[in-house]
Amino acid sequence: MSKNFYITTPIYYPSGSPHMGHAYSSILTDVMARYKRIDGYKVHFLTGTDEHGLKIQKAAEKNKTLPKEFCDKISKTFRDLTSILNLSNDDFIRTTENRHIKGVQNIWDELVKSGDIYLSKYKGWYSVSDEAYYSEEEVTNKDKKKYSIISGSEVEWVEEDSYFFKLSKWQQPLLDLYNKNKNFILPESRRNEVINFVKSGLKDLSVSRTSFSWGIKVPENDKHVIYVWLDALTNYLTALNYPNKQDVLYKDFWPASLHVIGKDILRFHAVYWPAFLLAAKIEVPKRIFGHGWILAGKEKMSKSKGNILNPLEIIKSYGLDELRYYLMKEVSHGNDGSVSIESLEKCINADLANNYGNLCQRLFVFIKNNCEEKIPQYDIFKPEDQKLLDSFSKILPELRKFMDDQDINNYLKMTVERLFDVNKYVNDNQPWALKKTDTKRMNTILYTSLESLRKISILLFPVIPKSSENVLNTLAISKNDINIKNYSIDKHLKPSTKLKEFKILFKKYS
Ligand code: MSP
Repeated sequence: MSKNFYITTPIYYPSGSPHMGHAYSSILTDVMARYKRIDGYKVHFLTGTDEHGLKIQKAAEKNKTLPKEFCDKISKTFRDLTSILNLSNDDFIRTTENRHIKGVQNIWDELVKSGDIYLSKYKGWYSVSDEAYYSEEEVTNKDKKKYSIISGSEVEWVEEDSYFFKLSKWQQPLLDLYNKNKNFILPESRRNEVINFVKSGLKDLSVSRTSFSWGIKVPENDKHVIYVWLDALTNYLTALNYPNKQDVLYKDFWPASLHVIGKDILRFHAVYWPAFLLAAKIEVPKRIFGHGWILAGKEKMSKSKGNILNPLEIIKSYGLDELRYYLMKEVSHGNDGSVSIESLEKCINADLANNYGNLCQRLFVFIKNNCEEKIPQYDIFKPEDQKLLDSFSKILPELRKFMDDQDINNYLKMTVERLFDVNKYVNDNQPWALKKTDTKRMNTILYTSLESLRKISILLFPVIPKSSENVLNTLAISKNDINIKNYSIDKHLKPSTKLKEFKILFKKYS
């Protein structure tokens, strides 16, 4: 099996400030990228900014700047976001970069060559906010305006010369693809949604615009700019130096292992993207995972709805790992999830402060005061000690499967159950009570607890990298040793090793 893993998160529209939905999408991708790395894969993780199209042109006009200057400024806030969220991305692509532009024009040429492009006129509805075309059946009237019933965004009537992509021709090949590869679109509910949409009949797709100029020019006709979604989706290829198919990155990482996306952009990724690729004779990605939305109350959190919870403020007040953990734990696999300050505080208290933080604190303080700050030397392991240690290797196949299914919720649930087990083991065995009577037994219990803590910290690393590194550093485990191979080794901690300084991990909220 290939040990290369190419994972992408959608490139952000730099039309406003980052919100919790962006943070969620990116953190979810980062967790999977980090897990794959510690599980021995060579990972390439891509993010970036999607800078063309009418939406950006209008945002720039509103700011009284040229589109490129506007993008330079806002793209930077999203690049900064990747550091603020501690994303481990290997690349950050901007669709205004030359490497991207020439790749998009190349794929356009391929589509022309395959006979999939023709010139005609587009007459229909368009949503600038979604950068999407909608059919008559997909729009509705409200307060004398027209809205898409799919996204709720306002639409406008557009009539202009346009090149079309023969999407209709790809209806059956797409259905064959979904049928052959049942895991191409996950979760199942999204797969069904896409299949029903494709079965209902695909119309040819307008892939160029003439009423504005902010975009990549159609090579043979510079009155047209290429439709922003054809432009944007191609970033997954151009970041690997497509069209140079001999490039090491391209050879190592295409086809992509996983495109992580929000469900609002499923149609573009699961229908248009594979159709473009099939037409251009390029392999399709292996999987598209459509996660749910972060809701504010019952509505999707979005700039246009004005109900944004600012991730930067939450990080300032509560900490980054706290936010990362909360989003991964609370938003259930593939579904929507509501976020609130109350549930954030509850989650930090229950899982991080009272459970993980408290276990570390109890063990490290006791060892500091009673074991010369050293990892205790174990003696004979009793069945209850061995049972606890064995439980970690037993769950590994399940944990791996959860990650392979993008099911971070259950991955975390299983990991947190281990934390409860270790806390219970410590409570049941009371190492502190043995201080004066049986130090050999006390040391064995402490060693077993620390070794369990090491394993749990490795499992938590993809989700809360800083805090996990902090604990592992106290145990004198170096960054290179944070991996699943070492996780699987029992009694990896070396007795007599001096513990390093421990910093309090999580604050409690009342
Ligand atoms: N530019 C496009 C993606 C092009 S990919 C070739 C885009 N950008 S976006 O900035 O609007 O969204 C970036 C990511 O954030 C998408 O995965 C989107 O689904 C996600 N989210 C935006 N709002 C969201 C929520 N309220 N909740 C969860 N994720 C949502 O789409």
